[in-house]
Amino acid sequence: MILVTGASGHVGGELVAALADQGRPVRALVRDPASFEAPHGVQTAGGDLNDPESLADALAGVDGVFLLGGFADMSGVLARARAAGVGHVVLLSSRSVVGGNPDNAVAGMHLASEAAVRESGIGWTLLRPSGFMSNTFEWVPQLREGDVVTAPFAGVPIAAIDPRDIAAVAAAVLTRREHHGRSHAMTGPAALLPADRAEILGRVLGRPVSLRAQPDDEARAEMSRTIPAKYVDAFFRFFVDGEFDDSSVLSTVQEITGRPARGFEDWAVAHRARFE
Ligand SMILES: NC(=O)c1ccc[n+]([C@@H]2O[C@H](COP(=O)([O-])OP(=O)(O)OC[C@H]3O[C@@H](n4cnc5c(N)ncnc54)[C@H](OP(=O)(O)O)[C@@H]3O)[C@@H](O)[C@H]2O)c1
Repeated sequence: MILVTGASGHVGGELVAALADQGRPVRALVRDPASFEAPHGVQTAGGDLNDPESLADALAGVDGVFLLGGFADMSGVLARARAAGVGHVVLLSSRSVVGGNPDNAVAGMHLASEAAVRESGIGWTLLRPSGFMSNTFEWVPQLREGDVVTAPFAGVPIAAIDPRDIAAVAAAVLTRREHHGRSHAMTGPAALLPADRAEILGRVLGRPVSLRAQPDDEARAEMSRTIPAKYVDAFFRFFVDGEFDDSSVLSTVQEITGRPARGFEDWAVAHRARFE
């Protein structure tokens, strides 16, 4: 049995679907099982990753766990998993840890989660994806108002990855022992500027979507309304101070899944309905 955390999210949702398609026993962890619609044949378990004791039922009989990072007591979560007999944890980390500075709140959070996994005594694999294509959903409210989207860090190219590809890698890794003790950085197939994404999305939607580059001061003020200051600082250090270059393209998805990483246009076509 594989327990998928973040099962209602972009990556976990794709992973639950991929494992179910492969006929593998899978259990979806969500905080509110009543509001989660599991695919046919998938078990649902309630539990909160900020409360390791709440995970006992979810972990019963589980061999492998797909784990999100960054929760309050990652060591506590992993101790429960080990006690339950889990043999393999696949952690969703971030490419920002590669050469990352632990003083940066985002890189530091992922580095701390990776350390907890490495020290857990459970077999582990670390997935270190680039920025997600699904971050483009942030534009949905603006696209309801018109054809111009305002985005921060407009001069920063990112080799964004489709969450479906992260899930495909996770599904492959969860079944093969050769991945134990390995870290996999992975990206999409091309580095795109926000304006490139806007142009492609517009083409898919049949609308002339264009990008307004958000000035840094305005971006900082807007982000600070919803994100704690240390994380706003972390993103500015990444993308304004140049602490994180997320633009190089890696062939990991092809190597592990046997098929190329999906491009942004394919992602946009698959999710067109969310933008319409
Ligand atoms: N976005 C990026 O560009 C990027 C890049 C690299 C790494 N990452 C990492 O990717 C992860 C996000 O992945 P995603 O986009 O697939 O997720 P997402 O769509 O943002 O959804 C978040 C998921 O986390 C679950 N969750 C939140 N708090 C929880 C808690 N206390 N206990 C249990 N589950 C909890 C939610 O489940 P419920 O609400 O249903 O309980 C939901 O399924 C994060 O760990 C992030 O650091 C993101």
